[in-house]
Amino acid sequence: MIEIENLSKSFGQLVVLDNISLYVSEGENLVVFGRSGQGKSVLLKCIIGLLSPDNGNILVDGKNIVALNLKELNEVRKNIGFLFQSAALYDSMTVRENLAFPLKRNFPNLTDKEINDKVEYTLELVSLEYAIDKMPSELSGGMKKRVGLARSIITDPKLMLYDEPTTGLDPITTKEISELILNLQKKFNMTSVIVTHDLICAEIIADRAIFLKDAKIAYEGTIEELTKSNVPFLKNFFSHELIKA
Ligand SMILES: Nc1ncnc2c1ncn2[C@@H]1O[C@H](COP(=O)(O)OP(=O)(O)O)[C@@H](O)[C@H]1O
Ligand SMILES: [Mg+2]
Repeated sequence: MIEIENLSKSFGQLVVLDNISLYVSEGENLVVFGRSGQGKSVLLKCIIGLLSPDNGNILVDGKNIVALNLKELNEVRKNIGFLFQSAALYDSMTVRENLAFPLKRNFPNLTDKEINDKVEYTLELVSLEYAIDKMPSELSGGMKKRVGLARSIITDPKLMLYDEPTTGLDPITTKEISELILNLQKKFNMTSVIVTHDLICAEIIADRAIFLKDAKIAYEGTIEELTKSNVPFLKNFFSHELIKA
């Protein structure tokens, strides 16, 4: 689903990604770890074409997004969902309208009934059917996250990119959101790249994880391999994360 070859990205003197290569199979959940400022968000933004790399190729579902014009890029983006940490709902719209919005934009030919059916179906996936006519201000933080998740998957993306999806959530909601992401993988064979430093989330979701450090993929493996590693840097990172969790 994703094939990154020799990706480099700098901002002025600051080298953020240095010659990174990465492969994500269809249906895989890849977790990206790293301390703050290590290029995790930049990596996601390169994958969706919001930032263009200085070097390298990024193939998404076989298309080299580095070489596409905006129109072609927008076609590829229809198959990619993106959930930013700060992804806010539209406050003046109901949950139903929030979910209908990307559908109408991407599929202008859908009828009102088709849109409504899809909104109801997608809300069921996140167990929020009953909130369909509520305003965002009436929802708890965890519910807003679930609506945000529903809104980013309603167009049936083959690939989902999550940037710190559980930051700021309590452990129970974190578990719920993580299980939802896992269910999407199982139900739709969805591929996901999840940036997180939440070990609860990673343990539930990850098939494999990479660790960004000093602009490189410094470590790679299953969560078990990484958390049980004797590498001092990893031991230190995970002991701090465990205390926090
Ligand atoms: N558009 C930008 N212009 C300049 N510097 C940027 C830009 N985006 C990110 N950076 C810098 O790149 C580094 C990596 O950022 P980021 O990927 O957001 O880190 P994180 O791993 O915390 O997600 C940071 O030092 C950040 O300040
Ligand atoms: Mg970030």
